[in-house]
Amino acid sequence: MEGKVPEPGRFWPWLVLIAVSCVVAGCGGEGGEQSMLAPRGPAAGDIANIWWGMFWGGCAIFLLVMVLAFYVVFRHPDKRAKLRATPFILAGGLALPLLTLTPLLFYGVTAGYRWSAPVEDAYRIEVIGNQFWWDIRYPGADGQGTVAVANELRIPAGQPVELILRSRDVIHSFWVPNLAGKMDVFPDRLNRLRIEADEPGVFRGQCAEFCGLRHAHMVFQVIAQAPDEFQHWLAAQREPARAPESELQQQGQRLFASECGHCHQVRDTVAGNSGAQAKDARPGPDLTHIASRRQLGAGTITEINAANVAEWLPYHRKTDVQIGMPDLSSLDEPSRRALAAYLAHLR
Ligand code: CUA
Repeated sequence: MEGKVPEPGRFWPWLVLIAVSCVVAGCGGEGGEQSMLAPRGPAAGDIANIWWGMFWGGCAIFLLVMVLAFYVVFRHPDKRAKLRATPFILAGGLALPLLTLTPLLFYGVTAGYRWSAPVEDAYRIEVIGNQFWWDIRYPGADGQGTVAVANELRIPAGQPVELILRSRDVIHSFWVPNLAGKMDVFPDRLNRLRIEADEPGVFRGQCAEFCGLRHAHMVFQVIAQAPDEFQHWLAAQREPARAPESELQQQGQRLFASECGHCHQVRDTVAGNSGAQAKDARPGPDLTHIASRRQLGAGTITEINAANVAEWLPYHRKTDVQIGMPDLSSLDEPSRRALAAYLAHLR
């Protein structure tokens, strides 16, 4: 067979295309939102280091392979035939994987242990996955007065926080890319994950395991606050629910007890825990201080006021029927307004 060397010029369009794809694929969200390449804590920093190590290592190996491929294609076949295979197999097939994969494995395994091992002095928060929301609980000092918040994890910045994760139904996965790696959340075992934010900030999190049709809506926020601000927030959450201040809100409270109280609770009210009813018995989020949250409906509402809540209630019922929300179609417009006035008042 006659050895024919192809023209290098034919490859340039492909090389340009590959380069452009790499640059475009690198576009991140604003300020690195929900990106593990924008680490804002030590655990995420470890993971980003592994990522960059793999990226640059991959680039070097890609270049090496390209050089060899170009050599094979453009070198005259007579000279190419003089190369012996054994040194290439030993170097590229044995030495190179050993030298690159061993440190990677060591770094990855030690980082994994470091961030999922129990920590003595860490602040502990319980995180419970539900189809399709996150129940986040701050145990009281004596095991009493647990505060429960939905889809909003507040942590003190600059301090290690240990999350104790479990699920009430199927397997979920807890992931805040800016702060830590993914951790699966199981119904039959407890998992731990240590997270820490260097500075105060708001970070977006997402369930990372397909858990049902509304999996994509299983969104949450992590809000890192200065430690004294965090304590202030926690103390406010431990307070009993605000009493209704108007006739409309009183009507809303009565409606809440009859229509929503089977699944949701507002602590220390008729629709609160009566002692006989364990908290876990209610399938829906605790709404004691619902209006103090930053978002509602996993990000559907970003400003909580009576008008927005009234508009959202039918949507909430409609979309959540499939997850066990009863269809409260008997609820007319005035009742909806009363209910919304009551809920928006629960700061
Ligand atoms: Cu929970 Cu996906």
